[in-house]
Amino acid sequence: MGLLHRTAQIAQEYLDTVGERRVGATLGFEDVLATLDCPLPEEGEDAEVVLETLAALEPGMIATAGPRYFGFVTGGALPVAVAADWLVSTWDGPHFGRAVSPAGAAVEDVTARWLLEALGLPRDARVGFVTGATMANLVGLASGRHRVLASAGWDVEEHGLHGAPPVRIFAGEEVHVSLLKALRILGFGSAGATRIPVDGNGAMQPGPLAAALREGEGPAIVCAQAGNVNTGACDPLLPIVAAAREAGAWVHVDGAFGLWAAASPRLAALVAGADGADSWALDAHKWLNVPYDCGVAIVADGEAHAAAMSATAEYLLASDDGLTKTPEMSRRGRQVPVYAALRHLGRRGLAGLVERCCEHATRLAAAMEGVEGAEVLNDVVLNQVLLRFDSDDEVTARTIEELQRGGEAWLGGTVWHGMTAARVAFSNWSTEDQDVDRLATALQHALAAARAGSPVR
Ligand SMILES: Cc1ncc(COP(=O)(O)O)c(C=O)c1O
Repeated sequence: MGLLHRTAQIAQEYLDTVGERRVGATLGFEDVLATLDCPLPEEGEDAEVVLETLAALEPGMIATAGPRYFGFVTGGALPVAVAADWLVSTWDGPHFGRAVSPAGAAVEDVTARWLLEALGLPRDARVGFVTGATMANLVGLASGRHRVLASAGWDVEEHGLHGAPPVRIFAGEEVHVSLLKALRILGFGSAGATRIPVDGNGAMQPGPLAAALREGEGPAIVCAQAGNVNTGACDPLLPIVAAAREAGAWVHVDGAFGLWAAASPRLAALVAGADGADSWALDAHKWLNVPYDCGVAIVADGEAHAAAMSATAEYLLASDDGLTKTPEMSRRGRQVPVYAALRHLGRRGLAGLVERCCEHATRLAAAMEGVEGAEVLNDVVLNQVLLRFDSDDEVTARTIEELQRGGEAWLGGTVWHGMTAARVAFSNWSTEDQDVDRLATALQHALAAARAGSPVR
């Protein structure tokens, strides 16, 4: 059998059984190291042997693609998106513009349009396909940095920040760490951001933001969020955008997963006002369920976007705007699996995927509310559920450990309002009601085991 046929067979077998295998890994890091660590071979080995060596690592993988993986916010890739991703690898080659990849550029244009339509964002916004929401945050904020400083008469691309007018940055207390990282990379420093108070579910309060904006003047960027990484809460974008407009500030929305709510008529109200912002960060590898790594940077002000991302050289085609959309120059054809997923799902399928995940969150919360000692800590507005057991950090941590050990499902922990909590995220197309019920049962068993083994009880 040819190498790629064999690879397809391995992949098919994996995906056919991933829903029933143990979710956690059975091989740990050290075990895996022992099977593959060797001196760099002097002579190369057969491709088939190398492939089988890699395939044998499967027990060291957590089944994140499967229906009962609820860790972080990790979508399982749709088969059509996996297949499209294989084509991207097969075609190889960078996809940064028409000269180097006419097909890639055409797919990029159509996919960008579809995304803007699906999410109700300005149709003339520019779209760049990046590695993830961290990079998308960087692109949005770099574009904002350009615009607010250009408006103050400063060319930041030419002169950098040294000597520039100060830029006031505003972000909620519950801003995602990747946004702070982007601020650091851009030279603003994460400590420089004025942190705005949030409500009990982690959404930024627009009143204090408006007051903080009024307190000073000059270039300003507001960093809003759709989808709190713990609770799923979305900042109220309508009043946030209104306050920012009044102050002449740029508004960036980190919508890594929460902005997908805009694709559902039932959930779109959660992110109402998003279309009035200036830039948006979105992950396709989370809720659109395409393979890692794929984020989307969207910027309404095309000139600011192009200025922030521009790179020109004699050997490059100045007319090719594919080079001014992302921090990377050469890049993978990430838009291709996004195109495949959107075309396969259609508008209705996309809305259905997002809605189903939210229904699963509600279903789990309802099931756990009936369990003695279990408590749902968050207001379940989207796809995230925070659970605590016996009002006790240790019992909660042990319950998470027991659940992971059991292998029926996998989820991680967090700290919410100073309390240890189990964090459950629903973002996989293949999760069904019965998987949610299996999780609820597994959590009860894990809680019982945690109580039995816990020194505090
Ligand atoms: C709200 C939010 N923003 C940004 C990110 C970073 O995304 P990525 O890991 O794709 O860079 C995440 C990841 O969980 C997130 O939840």
